Amino acid sequence: MPGRTRPIEKCRITCMTPADIAFAVSLTDREGWGFFGSDFETRLRLYPSGSFVARHGRESVGMISSVTYGTYAYLGNLIVREGHRGHGIGAELMLHAVNYLLGKGVTTIELDGVWGAVTMYRKLGFRDKHLSLRFSRPADKRAVEPMNSAIPATPIIALDRKLVGVARQRLLRAALTDRRNSLVVQGSPVSAYALIRERAGGFSMVAPIIAPSWRQVPPLVDSVIKHYGDRPLWVGVPEPNYRMSQFLLSCGFVSREPSLRMYYGTRLNYEKHVYGIFGPAIG
Ligand SMILES: CC(C)(COP(=O)(O)OP(=O)(O)OC[C@H]1O[C@@H](n2cnc3c(N)ncnc32)[C@H](O)[C@@H]1OP(=O)(O)O)[C@@H](O)C(=O)NCCC(=O)NCCS
Repeated sequence: MPGRTRPIEKCRITCMTPADIAFAVSLTDREGWGFFGSDFETRLRLYPSGSFVARHGRESVGMISSVTYGTYAYLGNLIVREGHRGHGIGAELMLHAVNYLLGKGVTTIELDGVWGAVTMYRKLGFRDKHLSLRFSRPADKRAVEPMNSAIPATPIIALDRKLVGVARQRLLRAALTDRRNSLVVQGSPVSAYALIRERAGGFSMVAPIIAPSWRQVPPLVDSVIKHYGDRPLWVGVPEPNYRMSQFLLSCGFVSREPSLRMYYGTRLNYEKHVYGIFGPAIG
């Protein structure tokens, strides 16, 4: 990158603590990523040593977070404060987090890379997997019908584990029991689900969307739009599930700039039943 200079002073990287949450939210707010302080509280409760802050002296200048689902881990929220970028801090945070995860016995690490950062991830050993497509839909003015989404978390967690094969029950339980979030399901007993997660900034992520076959997905998405389309909606779709992209475009979603799903270590192919990702920072 022309004109880049290396750091004059190496930054110190420490574990994120509750005292860093306001700083973390200030960074995600600037990027428009829609995080609440409670997202970081949950993260620190479930993974107390998996998030890191870079500091120059007493000043916090960057962060990264990780979640682990057994031997699979996911990196997200890599942000360096404007004015401190281009001095190696982002790469330093990445190295620190990757080494932390490898030290825990993790064999696969994934992330969704924005295009500006893909070169850095490749240099650090990450490989391209597939596009991670993004879709958004403006708020629909039509009245929506209220919906009773009181379904116990346990069958959803069991379904998710069966169809995705990744042990993400801790974070999923936290999301399913968050009163801000809502659930839309298909079948009885439940065979497909979409979680609607309210985000800061007035939009909702429909994330994840999990179904055993394509057949169940259109009615699930129709139901989400009918009941929750009064807010702007956001969906992240793994590129291989191309039918989902076509369908979203047919129901008023527009395509946004995609990210690149990348992996380090062993490649896992668990996307077959994933029609909506859990989130750009959690997999
Ligand atoms: C992406 C980000 C974290 C990089 O942090 P940084 O401290 O500026 O990155 P570094 O200085 O450590 O750069 C490391 C390498 O990444 C590459 N790189 C980083 N940012 C880049 C950019 N915007 N364009 C091109 N290359 C870039 C460079 O090749 C550099 O390699 P070099 O050391 O050989 O020059 C920072 O730009 C940022 O916070 N962006 C906004 C949030 C974001 O998009 N996060 C990534 C989400 S996936």
